[in-house]
Amino acid sequence: MNIHFDEKRKIFHLSNKGTSYVMKVLDGGYLVHLYWGRSIVSYNESNPLIFLDRGFSPNPNPMNRSFSLDTIPHEYPVYGNGDYRQPAFQLQLEDGSTISDLRYHSHRIYHGKSVLKGLPATYAENDKEAISLEIVLEDAHLGLSVALTYCIFRDHDAISRSVAITNHGQCNIKLLRVSSASVDFRDDEFEWLTLYGSHTNERNIERRPLTHGVQAITSARGASSPQQNPFMALLRKGADESKGEVYAFNLVYSGNFLAQVEVEQYHTCRASIGINPFDFTWLLGPGETFQTPEAVMVFSSDGLGGMSRTYHELYRSRLCRGKHRDRVRPILINNWEATYFNFDAQKLESLADEAQRLGIELFVLDDGWFGHRDDDTSSLGDWQVDKRKLPDGLADLAERIRARGMEFGLWFEPEMISEDSHLYREHPDWCIQVEGRPKTLGRNQFVLDLSRPEVCDYIVRVITEVLNSAPISYVKWDMNRHLTEVGSLAWPPERQREIAHRYILGLYHVMEQITSSFPDILFESCSGGGGRFDPGMLFYMPQTWASDNSDAVSRLNIQYGTSLVYPISTIGAHVSVVPNHQVHRVTSLDIRSHVAMSGNLGFELDLTKLSEEEKDFIRTTISQYKEIRSVIQFGDFYRLLDPFQGNEAAWMFVSENKNEAVVGYFKVLAQPGERIRFLRLNGLHPDAKYKHAETGRIYGGDELMHAGLTIPVMHGDFTSVFYRFQQVELT
Ligand code: DGJ
Repeated sequence: MNIHFDEKRKIFHLSNKGTSYVMKVLDGGYLVHLYWGRSIVSYNESNPLIFLDRGFSPNPNPMNRSFSLDTIPHEYPVYGNGDYRQPAFQLQLEDGSTISDLRYHSHRIYHGKSVLKGLPATYAENDKEAISLEIVLEDAHLGLSVALTYCIFRDHDAISRSVAITNHGQCNIKLLRVSSASVDFRDDEFEWLTLYGSHTNERNIERRPLTHGVQAITSARGASSPQQNPFMALLRKGADESKGEVYAFNLVYSGNFLAQVEVEQYHTCRASIGINPFDFTWLLGPGETFQTPEAVMVFSSDGLGGMSRTYHELYRSRLCRGKHRDRVRPILINNWEATYFNFDAQKLESLADEAQRLGIELFVLDDGWFGHRDDDTSSLGDWQVDKRKLPDGLADLAERIRARGMEFGLWFEPEMISEDSHLYREHPDWCIQVEGRPKTLGRNQFVLDLSRPEVCDYIVRVITEVLNSAPISYVKWDMNRHLTEVGSLAWPPERQREIAHRYILGLYHVMEQITSSFPDILFESCSGGGGRFDPGMLFYMPQTWASDNSDAVSRLNIQYGTSLVYPISTIGAHVSVVPNHQVHRVTSLDIRSHVAMSGNLGFELDLTKLSEEEKDFIRTTISQYKEIRSVIQFGDFYRLLDPFQGNEAAWMFVSENKNEAVVGYFKVLAQPGERIRFLRLNGLHPDAKYKHAETGRIYGGDELMHAGLTIPVMHGDFTSVFYRFQQVELT
């Protein structure tokens, strides 16, 4: 890992084992992009810029018609001086003008990685793990500096980027657009891949050719959203799961975002990612700094599989934090689909009895334990236990659960407020709203105005009180609606378009306070399932409930799509009842178990209603999972068959030292004229011998990867099989 600055040619070269990233300062101080891709030992401008006189491309220097800002590859493009592509940055001055002109001012290279105050980000644990470069651009006319920070990691083919804007002038500046990263690729021979979806149908993979013009994905919902994930990748044509070049961008942010690619007239393209400029402005007073979220850019020459493994390793080890980061995750029972709002202490205890007998380790009490919440119309904000349901209180229930040898976990939805709540009656002004306009309800609730410090303080105080009141080891942090009528009664008119971002800053503050005060608690985020499955949330909470859809067949796609970016240890996956409550499908217990075992295993059904045969099956599932979960949660992940392409899915997990592997194969529907499937494994040591745990047969890693495994024909719909291999020493 190195950052080299060639003083003479003004070239910056960031490199590590797998990737290089090169920029240059041109005469005039324009910072341009020259290369990003496979690692290069020493860069000597074999691919210099060619300057041509192009029609309709204006020239800052009339004597040089071949130089135009419209045709050079910028590193952080601005609006107004002849580059007509989408800018990374735009502002507005008090005189109404919206142009700026950024030129190189200075730079510094330093070991390690700096923190982003108040924002989530990847981190280095010491100065040897990463090296950083800060390039300061300035608009001398305005007294504005734009610090571009790049960090390259020693052990990951990833570069993080963020931007800090400082107003050194005397007047207010209004920021209209501040991307976290922008890359001007020097050609357009890519396909574009994004993850789209909806509630209960998150992170579907969509791949299509780039077309001329702008293609964009966004969220304007106040959350990163299930509709689009803040991720995009550019793939070289022919790149696939295991080969080819991939350039990926992921925003470490949980709110409104824009990720886009613009293919311009001369077959180059500009990719950028950052806060969504739609309905966003930020007033930057003299002396103030605005810090963007971080973008994590990953280069892979080993296709999407390589890209995913880089994100997984980086996020698992240097985004997630806290004592649970490296710990195997507990197997849980959640009462939501078992009881919904309709429970009492006795019902919960009977569920806990069964859970304990099956080997479950954590009991999670979901929505409905507080206020008088018998349905979703009331009580959010009133985080006091409902004595009708739990007459002896939370601590008593938690102790009873713990007496059975299980930990106790609790659900909250701290960002929300019900109209029917004491909190709303006392503080109707505490919701996100626009004065004089009706407020739109979503799931019968309003959103608390987290741009207000006193609201954040309230949340921290009441949640802290509950967490101190009982032995709670796990928290599920939910968020079940998006923002409407975005505005705040606490902020002046000129700051109303800051509210969506201020909401997220408030949320990060609240989560930082609570998670750091309770380091022993395992936090899992949730937003109607996987509606806020983003790296911003993972910085505070190392796992996310992947979807409200617990149907095994739907989950094949959801978990496969999620795995493109997010580590397996972050994916909550539960076995639920059939017919499934979301899609009403009846699937086998085999496939439901195997799909849930492919993430952080949990159960979400009424265990007391299972047959003895089903309980035996689950008991076995649980004891098997306990043996293999460290490989599943923390191993290297390889996708083998893509459920988006057909009737089957397969994936595997390989321990870091390649001693152990777990393979999952899934077939959705039985087919006439059944094909025989040979599944070629991946990630094993080719020279090692592996013993198949179930049969005791021994195969070489090379054989398993090249000849593959024959999958036995399984009859009927919704079939699946798990294989476990362990390396053996042959004498
Ligand atoms: C949405 C979550 O995704 C569910 O698991 C459950 O917690 C409900 N909210 C409770 O209201």
